[in-house]
Amino acid sequence: MAKSTILSGIRPTGGLHLGNYLGALQNFVKLQDEYQCFYFIADLHALNESFDPQKKYAQVLDTAATFIAAGIDPKRSTLFVQSHLPEHAQLAVILSNVIPVGYLFRMTQYKEKAGKQAQGNANAGLLYYPVLMAADILLYHPTFVPVGDDQDQHVELARDAAGFFNRRFGETLVFPKTLHTNAPRVMSLLDPNKKMSKTLGGDHCLNLDDPPEEIRRKLSRAVTDTGDGSGAGAKNLISLLAHFADAKTVQRFSEAAAAKTIRYSELKLALTDSINRFLAPLQERKAQLLSHPKKLEEILATGDARAGKVAAKTLSDVLKKVGLCR
Ligand code: TRP
Repeated sequence: MAKSTILSGIRPTGGLHLGNYLGALQNFVKLQDEYQCFYFIADLHALNESFDPQKKYAQVLDTAATFIAAGIDPKRSTLFVQSHLPEHAQLAVILSNVIPVGYLFRMTQYKEKAGKQAQGNANAGLLYYPVLMAADILLYHPTFVPVGDDQDQHVELARDAAGFFNRRFGETLVFPKTLHTNAPRVMSLLDPNKKMSKTLGGDHCLNLDDPPEEIRRKLSRAVTDTGDGSGAGAKNLISLLAHFADAKTVQRFSEAAAAKTIRYSELKLALTDSINRFLAPLQERKAQLLSHPKKLEEILATGDARAGKVAAKTLSDVLKKVGLCR
C-alpha cells in the first residue's frame, strides 16, 4: 500500500533551539519511517516580521543544513524551499477568494502578533499568512500535518478552505488532519512558566548551534526555583535530562528530586554534559554541509523538482475547476 503523505514547514528565522528540535524536528525525522514526507523551508512566511534581507538566504540554507544534520534524509523525504515554487503563492491567491476575512481576523496568532502594534499597522502579510499556509498544505494532499498546538487553528483554516473550495467548485482538495507529537513542551530557562522561544531572548533558549561553553553558561543560570511552588524550572531541567541522558543518570536525578535531596548544580552539570554530547555530531554534520553550499543547493533543487511536480498538478486541477483554463 502506498504510504500516506505528511507535510510540514519551518520558518527560517535563524538558529533553532532545543524546543524546536524536541517539538518538531526530532518528530519529522521519525515520521520518515512510516510516511511519504514533504518538508519545506517556509521562507515566504518569514517576511511578515522585521528581518535583515542580507541574512535571509543564509538563514534558508542554515535551516536546510539543520534539517539534514538532524536526520532528515533528502533521498527519502522531499526537502524543498517554499519560495522556489510559485504554485504556493498562486494557490494562496485563489484560495483567498473562498476564505472569509472574518476567519483571518479571529486567528489567535494574528491577534497576538498584530496586537503589539498600533491599530491598522500590522502588515497584511501577517493577516494573510494562514491563507498562504492553507495553500502550502493543500497543494500536496497530505493526510497529516505535524505541527505544535499553536498551529492547530491554521490547519483548521486549511480544512475550512478545502471545504469551501470543494463545495463551490467540486471535489478537488483533500482535508488535512493535524498530527500532534507527544513531545513535551520545553520551557524557557529563565522563565520556566513560558514556552522556550526566541522572542523571549537568547538566554532563555538552548540553541542547536550553541558551543559547549555557552550551553554550560546558560544552564548554570537556569532558574530552578520559581518561588511559586510550581517547581516548573526543576521539572523542565529533569524533563530535558530524560531526553538527552542515559537511563541511569535520569533515574538517579529523578529519585533525588522525589526525595528532595537533589543538588541542582549537579543536575545542571549532568545536563550540560549530555546536551553537549548530543549536539557535537549534529554541529559537525551541519558545518560540513554549510561548507559546501553548492552541494546543499543541489539537494534543495532536487527537492524543489520533486515537490514541484505534485504542486503543479494540484494547481492545474484548481485552475481548471475555477475556469481559468481548459
Ligand atoms: N506557520 C508555521 C509556523 O510558524 C510554519 C508553516 C508554514 C507550516 N506553512 C506550513 C507548517 C504548512 C505546517 C504546514 O510554525
